[in-house]
Amino acid sequence: TAYEFILTSTPRPGVGQITINRPKALNALSTPLMKELNAAVKSFATDGKTGAIVLTGSERAFAAGADIKEMAPLTFSSAYKTDFIQLWSDLTQCPIPIIAAVNGYALGGGCELAMMCDIIFCGPKAVFGQPEIKLGTIPGGGGSQRLTRAIGKSKAMEIILTGKNFSGKEAEKWGLASKVFETAEATVEGALETAETIAGYGGVAVKAAKEVVNQAYEGNLAEGVKYERRMFHALFATKDQKIGMTAFAEKKKPEWSHE
Ligand code: HXC
Repeated sequence: TAYEFILTSTPRPGVGQITINRPKALNALSTPLMKELNAAVKSFATDGKTGAIVLTGSERAFAAGADIKEMAPLTFSSAYKTDFIQLWSDLTQCPIPIIAAVNGYALGGGCELAMMCDIIFCGPKAVFGQPEIKLGTIPGGGGSQRLTRAIGKSKAMEIILTGKNFSGKEAEKWGLASKVFETAEATVEGALETAETIAGYGGVAVKAAKEVVNQAYEGNLAEGVKYERRMFHALFATKDQKIGMTAFAEKKKPEWSHE
């Protein structure tokens, strides 16, 4: 499929790469762009071959936000009636892991998009922030909720209320990103390598692992621990559990059946 605002490729076995490619607008996330992104994610997630996705932008911008020019004329009624931004949530329903490789600007909706991914890796010049307050508005793509869970109330309040940006190093120190790399290229390579590792495991266990971590992130502890235990029990019904544990005992490399 030919897309206008994104590029897709399969750079490593089992790994789909999606590159946001709207350089003239610093990868601002318009509705047509988000529709393409959803279509590409769905296509990788259902092709039966892809086990993990890397989502990245350019060296200059992961994404500089939702498209301000598209939003400027919106009214309450039109935003409410069309449930504006709702379609962004499709990304969070993707059954396979998505790693965000963030270089340059990840502002507003760009930061929110990265936070919808399962893992954030970033480069030395990554710039995160929720600058909506400067535009007379607030985060609308889950940023107030996900940033608070990721870095705690005081820091999230400070960032959202002042609109001040923060660096990749800070993102890593505060637990928003799991790694900072030395160059932009190394960031994408690192994400592809991790995605390849994940794609090399049994698809059922990977799906379950993503689901139970999300339960911790999205729900409460007691429910989450119980949910994890039930899912853990359920995996004893899979072929891959037998394959994985038998291979360990026999000192062999497991050949996953994904069943
Ligand atoms: C539309 C954008 C844009 C955006 C940049 N551009 N960000 N267009 N929406 N979010 C466009 C500019 O208008 C300009 O187009 C071109 O990209 C290059 O940007 P410049 O500003 O000239 O580049 P620079 O001087 O290097 O400054 C980079 C920047 C700045 C600091 C990132 O562009 C900026 O502040 N952008 C807005 C960041 C922001 O406020 N994001 C949050 C948006 S609100 P032209 O045509 O002039 O060349 C949001 C709400 C989320 O995301 C809630 C729902 C999800």
